[in-house]
Amino acid sequence: MPKILKWGLLSTARINRALIPPLRASKRNELIAVASRDLERAEAYAKFHAIPRFYGSYEDLLADPEIDVIYNPLPNHLHADWSIRAARAGKHVLCEKPLALTPNEVARMAEAAEQSGTRIVEAFMYRHHPQTLAVQKAIQEGKIGKIQLIRGSFSFTLQRPDDFRWIPEYGGGALWDVGCYPVSFAHLLAGSTPKEVFGWQVTASGGVDETFVGQIHFSNGVLAQFDCSFNLPHQTGMEIRGSRGTLIIPAPFKPDPKQKPFILTDHHKEKLSFKSGDLYLGEIEDLTDAILCGHSPRISLAESQENIATLDALLRSARENRVVSPHL
Ligand SMILES: NC(=O)c1ccc[n+]([C@@H]2O[C@H](COP(=O)([O-])OP(=O)(O)OC[C@H]3O[C@@H](n4cnc5c(N)ncnc54)[C@H](OP(=O)(O)O)[C@@H]3O)[C@@H](O)[C@H]2O)c1
Repeated sequence: MPKILKWGLLSTARINRALIPPLRASKRNELIAVASRDLERAEAYAKFHAIPRFYGSYEDLLADPEIDVIYNPLPNHLHADWSIRAARAGKHVLCEKPLALTPNEVARMAEAAEQSGTRIVEAFMYRHHPQTLAVQKAIQEGKIGKIQLIRGSFSFTLQRPDDFRWIPEYGGGALWDVGCYPVSFAHLLAGSTPKEVFGWQVTASGGVDETFVGQIHFSNGVLAQFDCSFNLPHQTGMEIRGSRGTLIIPAPFKPDPKQKPFILTDHHKEKLSFKSGDLYLGEIEDLTDAILCGHSPRISLAESQENIATLDALLRSARENRVVSPHL
């Protein structure tokens, strides 16, 4: 019998709703448990979603010997510690973005995974989508020539006043929440590491950045600019400008078949073609391949660490009003 990986959800987070259907659709995976800080909440959640087991503490979930993989969708400041605790309990971890809040935390996560022989992988779902793979292929084939400039945005209006995203100590703020997407996409395509960054922020009354504008200067000369906000209508996009043309991605993070990426050159417009797929299935299958087949995960901890170093440097730049060099 092929091994079926058994999963447990670490909390009753809203984002679980995106993961549960593809987890159930995947033939090599099975959702068997959920934990909450509150036993009654865990029980009600398990009943509603038809999850067989529930636990009233995260510790109890990690102590379940039948669980192979933990999904960690906790508020951002708890990503590193609970992923490390899960790894030490012998569990693999799919951890929500941002994987951590400092590069040093990622180093500790890597050490815990190494010591326990487990995988910890950041859940950047768009990285696995056929659209992103088609964008990478078009760039590798030289369709827009040598990349020089990257622009990106991700904004929405955050209307929940009690959301952890408004709390600085919880890793709140627009940059950690949504700015991390264009920054990650820029890293993916720039083909080099960031040399310097600069950021400006508008802070909310509680102190988090509610709007952030940033620039990244990569070592190979590629320049990137992005913006993100909790205080603007929903908008996303990436624009990649090369020596031969521009690649426009209207829906880079949640691909939409009605808004496919296209390449503009002097006399030509070409749409990229790819098959659609479930946005969240790719990260599940990728981690399953890593666990069951020994493949390297598509998003390495080194990649996550580099992204987090850039985000951390951008925040320092905005606070200190100076150019900052990211360091790992
Ligand atoms: N990849 C994506 O598309 C995507 C989309 C949305 C969010 N995310 C990421 O997913 C994570 C969760 O986001 P979300 O919007 O789903 O969060 P959420 O609904 O606020 O859920 C977070 C959960 O964490 C638990 N928790 C533990 N300590 C907590 C504390 N001190 N304060 C608040 N909650 C606490 C709570 O569960 P219990 O009460 O059950 O313990 C809570 O339900 C974030 O890291 C976010 O960046 C990713």
